Amino acid sequence: MTTEFVKIDYNKDMESQLTGAAEIIRRGGLVAFPTETVYGLGANALDPDDAARIYLAKGRPSDNPLIIHISKPEEAEKYCFVNDIYSKIASAFMPGPITVIMKKKDIIPSKVTGGLDTVAVRCPSDPVARKLIELSAVPIAAPSANTSGKPSPTCAEHVREDLEGKIDLIIDGGSCQIGLESTIVKVSDGKVSLLRPGGITVEMLEKVVGEVNVDRAVRERLPENVRPEAPGMKYRHYAPEAKVFLIVDDGTPGFIGRAAEYINSRIAEDPRTGALCCSEICEKLKGKYIKDLGPKTDKTEHAKHLFAYLREFDDTDVSVIYAVTEDESGIGLAVRNRMLKASGYNIIEI
Ligand code: TXA
Ligand code: MG
Repeated sequence: MTTEFVKIDYNKDMESQLTGAAEIIRRGGLVAFPTETVYGLGANALDPDDAARIYLAKGRPSDNPLIIHISKPEEAEKYCFVNDIYSKIASAFMPGPITVIMKKKDIIPSKVTGGLDTVAVRCPSDPVARKLIELSAVPIAAPSANTSGKPSPTCAEHVREDLEGKIDLIIDGGSCQIGLESTIVKVSDGKVSLLRPGGITVEMLEKVVGEVNVDRAVRERLPENVRPEAPGMKYRHYAPEAKVFLIVDDGTPGFIGRAAEYINSRIAEDPRTGALCCSEICEKLKGKYIKDLGPKTDKTEHAKHLFAYLREFDDTDVSVIYAVTEDESGIGLAVRNRMLKASGYNIIEI
């Protein structure tokens, strides 16, 4: 299959640039498109055969359900049984980087939900994503537009690396604003559980819905015999080819100096050692493969660069990577969660 490309010009009318893409969705094709979180690989969410093509293109296990994307929060009630908490979340954060899981209605094929009786619903804020959904006139099922197991794509070039020749169209809308996938919450029996941290933080959610239970899979590897709430949590994710070790900033005085000293000692032993950490540590490092995530306190910036850097390591002969994670407040929890997964939960003490 030949994959077509469209580059979006934000100064021009959006509709005329996206009519062709919406046409492809309606006739059963696959379209990769930008969102404010990461790029998605979209198809008509109401057609089980189209959903099946998504799984095939990504090499995704068929029990891992897809998120359906809608252009207005009110549309959710066509596809699932909405509740008060959804309404609160929708008026506070939608359109935006949050996904809510609720009981599905029959119109959503079970292929889309991996056989579950729930469906994940998201209304993205990105103007390209919204216009595409609106013009398609169907909800769009879209996982991240990467090959299963790779970091999610945060620019069109990442999508091309993984999916060129396997999908109909890639819409290039530049780099994603947030860089990590949406926050996922599950609402059942009036309780809210956080299954995946993202741009809408626990602190932001708690102001609107009260107590939020952070699922244990956010911070630790689940034992083999425990079934995760979000099936996607059990699969290996975001891992570069080199082994990743995670160092947690414990907030003690002198941590930056100690972390730099430790990583420099590893680089001295093997120059193919890589590092992924804040600017303050990077400034002290002497090595070939240093990735600067940005100033220590600017975790929004860390989120934006993390996935691109993980991909870049794979283009080098880096042998081992030391990543440093900051505190869990705000978007820090999401950054740490993705770093934990990239490292296979491999935390080391220094
Ligand atoms: O930001 C995002 O959410 C991006 C963009 C494209 O919107 N999409 C995304 O989709 O990250 P994906 O498929 O890569 O991740 C969706 C996660 C998976 O871990 C999946 O298991 C979980 O959501 N999920 C989807 N539907 C679910 C359901 N009904 N119950 C539990 N987990 C669900
Ligand atoms: Mg994904």
